[in-house]
Amino acid sequence: MTPIKDVINNKKTNINPIWIMRQAGRYLPEFREIRKENPDFIKLCLNKKLSSEITLQPLKRFELDAAIIFSDILMLPYGLGQKVEFKKNFGPLLGELNLNEISKLSEVNFVKNIYQVYETLKLVSNNEIVKNKDTIGFVGAPWTLLVYMINKQSPKLKLIDNFFNDETVISETLSILDKFLKIHIKHQVDSGAQIIQIFDSWAGLLKENDFFKYIYNPTSSLVEFTKSLKVPVICFPRGIKNYKNYCEIIKPDTICIDYEVDPLTIIKEIKIPVQGGMDPKVLLTDKENIKKEAKRYLDIFQDHPYIFNLGHGVLPETNPNMMDYLVKMVKDY
Ligand code: CP3
Repeated sequence: MTPIKDVINNKKTNINPIWIMRQAGRYLPEFREIRKENPDFIKLCLNKKLSSEITLQPLKRFELDAAIIFSDILMLPYGLGQKVEFKKNFGPLLGELNLNEISKLSEVNFVKNIYQVYETLKLVSNNEIVKNKDTIGFVGAPWTLLVYMINKQSPKLKLIDNFFNDETVISETLSILDKFLKIHIKHQVDSGAQIIQIFDSWAGLLKENDFFKYIYNPTSSLVEFTKSLKVPVICFPRGIKNYKNYCEIIKPDTICIDYEVDPLTIIKEIKIPVQGGMDPKVLLTDKENIKKEAKRYLDIFQDHPYIFNLGHGVLPETNPNMMDYLVKMVKDY
């Protein structure tokens, strides 16, 4: 049993496994080295040799308990045939959403567009480095992908004004997402993903009365599907207010909390294993503060099944030595 599975399945406390969102990325000089030669982010995600190498980079440096596959939630719309670009200093930019074309897309052709992601997973999960560790696969939640596919860029603070205008487009896109997200999850699991994390980065944009339609129902469908494959599922709904409702309705195996959530409320309200929480900005300060902040989470979740992680991805300006310090500190706690 791997340490993370011991927490999720056996509800073990006090073992404090750790992995970090965006653990493979721009704060690592060895990543920037590869990235410099590979300006096209999508192509890089589709290069199994490089993307598996990038996935393993942080595990060579730090004693992490999981590898998370180097890919992106937007590989799904890319696989559906919607154009996806990553512009420097802007973020993702998507092309027109052509539902006529997408509705004709077969599973075989979808997989043809992104099968390299699955090849990467095979390479990673068969590597010696991940022995007794987990390989994590992931998807974007239907709501967050709907946001990108219709908004065509990060919404930052708000959605485009007429976002909800076309009811048919929204419901068709959600049903396409349900179908292909399940295909994407299944292929990741078949290729070696031992845990699936569902990222709902824009959950916080919705009002509570829209939750059933856009978050609870579509995400539950994926959670149930993943559980039917006997694979644990971690949900990360960023920016929501009511975690208790979310957990009771969606029933993930583990809930990942963001850095704006009060861990003291969570420990009182939530029974299932918890992951994450610490503000990534803490890693930009000093060792003393890192220790103090990490200890705060570890103390609060001392008698609760807990997986250490940050409350969002590690920031590109993070000094890798600080990451090293954090991982060692959590391991020695
Ligand atoms: O966590 C990991 O290390 C695994 C890889 C991973 C990436 N993106 C690689 C990536 C994962 C799990 C994601 C998830 C993802 N992608 C989310 C959900 C989590 C979150 O951040 O809220 C979202 C919303 C995306 C979409 C996305 N991809 C955006 C908005 C951006 C640009 C902003 C940014 O941080 O640069 C990306 C690009 C991206 N995805 C990078 C990486 C390492 C940066 C690429 C680069 O320029 O080198």
